[in-house]
Amino acid sequence: MGEGWNRVIVEKPFGRDLASSDALSLHLGGLFREDQIYRIDHYLGKEMVQNLMVLRFGNRIFGPIWNRDNVACVVLTFKEPFGTEGRGGYFDDFGIIRDVMQNHLLQMLCLVAMEKPASTDPDDVRDEKVKVLKCIGPVELDDVVLGQYVGNPDGPPEAQKGYLDDPTVPPGSTTATFAAAILRVANERWDGVPFVLRCGKALNERKAEVRLQFREVPGDIFGRQCKRNELVVRVQPDEAVYTKMMTKKPGMFFNPEESELDLTYGNRYKDVKLPDAYERLILDVFCGNQMHFVRSDELREAWRIFTPLLHTIEERGEKPIPYLYGSRGPAEADELLKRAGFLYEGTYRWVNPHKL
Ligand code: BG6
Repeated sequence: MGEGWNRVIVEKPFGRDLASSDALSLHLGGLFREDQIYRIDHYLGKEMVQNLMVLRFGNRIFGPIWNRDNVACVVLTFKEPFGTEGRGGYFDDFGIIRDVMQNHLLQMLCLVAMEKPASTDPDDVRDEKVKVLKCIGPVELDDVVLGQYVGNPDGPPEAQKGYLDDPTVPPGSTTATFAAAILRVANERWDGVPFVLRCGKALNERKAEVRLQFREVPGDIFGRQCKRNELVVRVQPDEAVYTKMMTKKPGMFFNPEESELDLTYGNRYKDVKLPDAYERLILDVFCGNQMHFVRSDELREAWRIFTPLLHTIEERGEKPIPYLYGSRGPAEADELLKRAGFLYEGTYRWVNPHKL
């Protein structure tokens, strides 16, 4: 005997706070060994999320600037242009922080902030994720903006219904469908650099991205025309990596102009089919590779960071700020970004060259 293997795939929700998640992990731990448990966070199966490690650790150019001396602020965004629309039952019990922020956005944060693992061995990678999570304190309510979408009478039919108009949502629910939060990674690399996580449903667009905004050029000789550089990893839609940078305005000019270095997948990898996140992850299960799965201690740290906040919100019955279906979310979230030191100039917009 001794042939074959058992592997169990577990999908979220992995509990709803630290205590219930611990109870679930304990229960699973009594039935399976850690190397048999595959907790899925499907964002870890996405092409550009997996690319974060290769971009960071496979290039010489990013490593030396990937730190508090150069990065002003990191913003991780998840936006969906539709509401709960019939899925309100599950969603209302969990809310956007548990549904997206505590897992998908936090996983992306780990991959941006963690140190270089000793190797690509799954446990070496997961050790680094746990390490960086341990440097993040519980999120404070003062660093959070909560929102809930309301119908937009001027919008298309689906946008005219707010969250509370969804028949699967309990009347008067105060569950947030939008959240923005500042997290701080108190270690040598990141001390003082805010990581802003923001996510929401029924917003103006579909977009998931990681954005690093760099500090100003010291001693700008171009009359303060140079804007901050940004490195954007666009997870979806239209996978791309681009840096927002200054270049000489072409022609009979000598002044700097905002432009980009652009690796848009639709241009560069025209005939490559990117597999769906679940396709990749389920194949990993068959191959026995746990790199892109969530280990018990990692999950525990993630809940430690968010549980006090979630309990405070529930105990105080915090009311989310209403925002219109199809909008950018509450204006207070932009204020939070500003407070985190993110500079939005509004002078540049990346245009997907694939779609021109
Ligand atoms: C799921 C959330 O984990 O992710 C959903 O429960 C959300 O609320 C979904 O819509 C988003 O996934 P994707 O791959 O479409 O970005």
